[in-house]
Amino acid sequence: MTAAAAVPPAAIAYEDDCIRKFTIATVFWGVVGFLVGVIIALQLAFPVLNLDLPWTTFGRLRPVHTSAVIFAFGGNALFATSLYCVQRTCRARLFGGSGMGSFLFWGFQLVIVMAASGYVLGITQSKEYAEPEWYVDLWLTVVWVGYLIAFAGTIMKRKEPHIYVANWFFLAFILTIAVLHLGNNVSVPVSLFGTKSYIIWAGVQDAMTQWWYGHNAVGFFLTAGFLGMMYYFIPKQAERPVYSYRLSIVHFWTLIFLYIWAGPHHLHYTALPDWAQTLGMVFSIMLWMPSWGGMINGIMTLSGAWDKLRTDPILRFMVASVAFYGMSTFEGPMMSIKAVNSLSHYTDWTIGHVHSGALGWVAFVTFGCVYYLVPRLWNRPRLYSLRFVTYHFWVATIGIVLYITAMWISGIMQGLMWRAYDSYGFLQYSFIETVEAMHPYYVIRASGGILFLLGALIMVYNLIKTIKGDIRTETAFEQPVGAAAMRAGE
Ligand code: HEM
Ligand code: HEM
Repeated sequence: MTAAAAVPPAAIAYEDDCIRKFTIATVFWGVVGFLVGVIIALQLAFPVLNLDLPWTTFGRLRPVHTSAVIFAFGGNALFATSLYCVQRTCRARLFGGSGMGSFLFWGFQLVIVMAASGYVLGITQSKEYAEPEWYVDLWLTVVWVGYLIAFAGTIMKRKEPHIYVANWFFLAFILTIAVLHLGNNVSVPVSLFGTKSYIIWAGVQDAMTQWWYGHNAVGFFLTAGFLGMMYYFIPKQAERPVYSYRLSIVHFWTLIFLYIWAGPHHLHYTALPDWAQTLGMVFSIMLWMPSWGGMINGIMTLSGAWDKLRTDPILRFMVASVAFYGMSTFEGPMMSIKAVNSLSHYTDWTIGHVHSGALGWVAFVTFGCVYYLVPRLWNRPRLYSLRFVTYHFWVATIGIVLYITAMWISGIMQGLMWRAYDSYGFLQYSFIETVEAMHPYYVIRASGGILFLLGALIMVYNLIKTIKGDIRTETAFEQPVGAAAMRAGE
């Protein structure tokens, strides 16, 4: 069946063309990133899959994965949602109009392609999450300044007196990423046309700057920006106001104040001065409170509307994401305690923590937002199939559970094996024995990843059908989700 009634046009001609493109790019890069994740997960279980070629080794594909999922999938999702939200909540067209929208979209895709091609060819600064060399860094700076101008410019020409809290989170994310990017990439190219550069910070200062960057990439890219999504899209999808607006403001200021100091928890038991490690630990433990304040605010937005979880699989994605956020922001402070970190560091426990945040929080809230956005951006009455959203939800959830439980078990086992001594004081296990012990868990993790990827492919099919204008007849699930908001043209 083809789409019926179109949604009446909104009073303000929002710049939605770039948002449509960013949404497609989110889904495209998501599938690419998950696929490379599955490949590297299989490589860890079956090393023969490295294919003995330099370009396809784990070492080169791992940063392709991390950058594809964080910056390409997450970044495009942040562009799409922030530009959608800021225009609606300010009742103003994007500053710079369609020219700015095109520049941001194509400029950012160029960053991704330049970075990824460099990794495969072996061009890297060897800084985790900041691998691209100086020529990519410079171009990203230009695009990011454009993003800041577009976002702040839209806020400045707003017709709404109040700046909605989601925009605070988005703005903090844009500004802080700019500062982190500049601080962590102060490097001197070896030659004007060469691809190699050296960072000006040396030794432990370099490590500290790197983890000030790395941790706040988590705090501001993977958290603050996605909290902006939570504060706009959960109330929209649930058709309820935010549970406590006052709590959202307290959440904002405490979160951004505390996050910026927590980086040293990545450098426990290193050459970093002890006081700095303790400072990082203390701030990380304090971070638990604002994180859970935010989680409670997100989940309680459903109070009085819990029944919607039964019928609305999109809302289920969003609420499950906030629950995963709560889980990983409990685990993170715990892992930052030095005694716990002496067991967890260098082990798969960290990888389990990363993916409960990355798959459960970042990817799930993004899926929820994409499902919200596509029918509205393409003027469709609803998604092709809500039942397929339910399938996606369960397949992906089972995938996450397999992934993270396998990593917890393998990580803790690995840590305990490394520190086991026999009665003569010798190490009880050789390193290769620990690697062998992890093998079954790596196979389970890869299976979890395959399920997660499969879920994403179900989403792709559903979205393509939606954009084409098809609607699947589904009696039990026939709820036109968010129909009221769509009628209002939002
Ligand atoms: C199909 C889904 C995915 C699979 C199978 C997967 C698999 C992997 C594997 C095998 C690694 C390397 C682990 C190691 O070095 O021991 C990894 C690292 C990583 N992945 Fe994923 N991943 C997936 C999705 C994601 C998503 C959606 C994100 C973020 C939004 C993400 C973020 C990361 C990060 C940040 C690391 C580096 C962790 C660290 O260095 O501690 N992954 N992933
Ligand atoms: C209160 C919040 C959080 C705290 C205090 C925290 C703390 C930590 C700690 C202690 C580590 C291990 C460091 C190490 O031993 O090397 C870690 C690693 C990591 N966490 Fe979190 N975490 C938090 C939330 C999150 C969330 C929500 C995400 C994802 C969306 C996340 C992503 C990561 C990543 C990617 C790493 C691996 C970094 C690397 O070594 O490459 N964290 N976190």
